[in-house]
Amino acid sequence: MQHWVASDLGAKAAAGGWGNCLVAENEDKEVVGWVEVDAAQGTVVSLWVHPDYQHNAIGTALLLNAEAKLVEGGVQTPSALVATDNLGAFGFFNRLGWTVDDSAVVLVAVAPGVNLDHVKFVASNK
Ligand SMILES: CC(C)(COP(=O)(O)OP(=O)(O)OC[C@H]1O[C@@H](n2cnc3c(N)ncnc32)[C@H](O)[C@@H]1OP(=O)(O)O)[C@@H](O)C(=O)NCCC(=O)NCCS
Repeated sequence: MQHWVASDLGAKAAAGGWGNCLVAENEDKEVVGWVEVDAAQGTVVSLWVHPDYQHNAIGTALLLNAEAKLVEGGVQTPSALVATDNLGAFGFFNRLGWTVDDSAVVLVAVAPGVNLDHVKFVASNK
């Protein structure tokens, strides 16, 4: 996993805080995906599935677990910031009933000196 994270700019940035993570493992106990939540903010901080393991419902399982964890903790409407150029993630979140809450674009620092436009998605089915 370290090699994968180190070679992927987005994954490297997302791995900045491992505080409250749920991971998905393959049969060899290797981590192939993770989701991190911030219970205080009610947000999904990062969600990542290794490219070799995508389209196997791992992302769905991780996001559903993250949502459940946030809702159990008293969060009414879990949210997540998604980069505006990440059309794959837009399709993924939409499929799971998440919608764009606010068309306002916010700049998020994803790496030193690298800021990307993001929009806020909310779990509208909650
Ligand atoms: C988004 C992500 C977490 C999805 O993980 P996953 O394990 O592949 O997701 P699932 O298999 O549960 O669901 C995939 C579904 O999401 C949707 N989806 C995924 N990528 C898509 C794309 N590029 N365009 C449109 N829809 C897409 C499709 O409906 C897809 O269904 P399919 O596999 O039958 O085609 C994964 O692609 C990823 O880690 N991307 C890089 C990081 C990222 O963008 N994180 C989210 C923003 S924080």
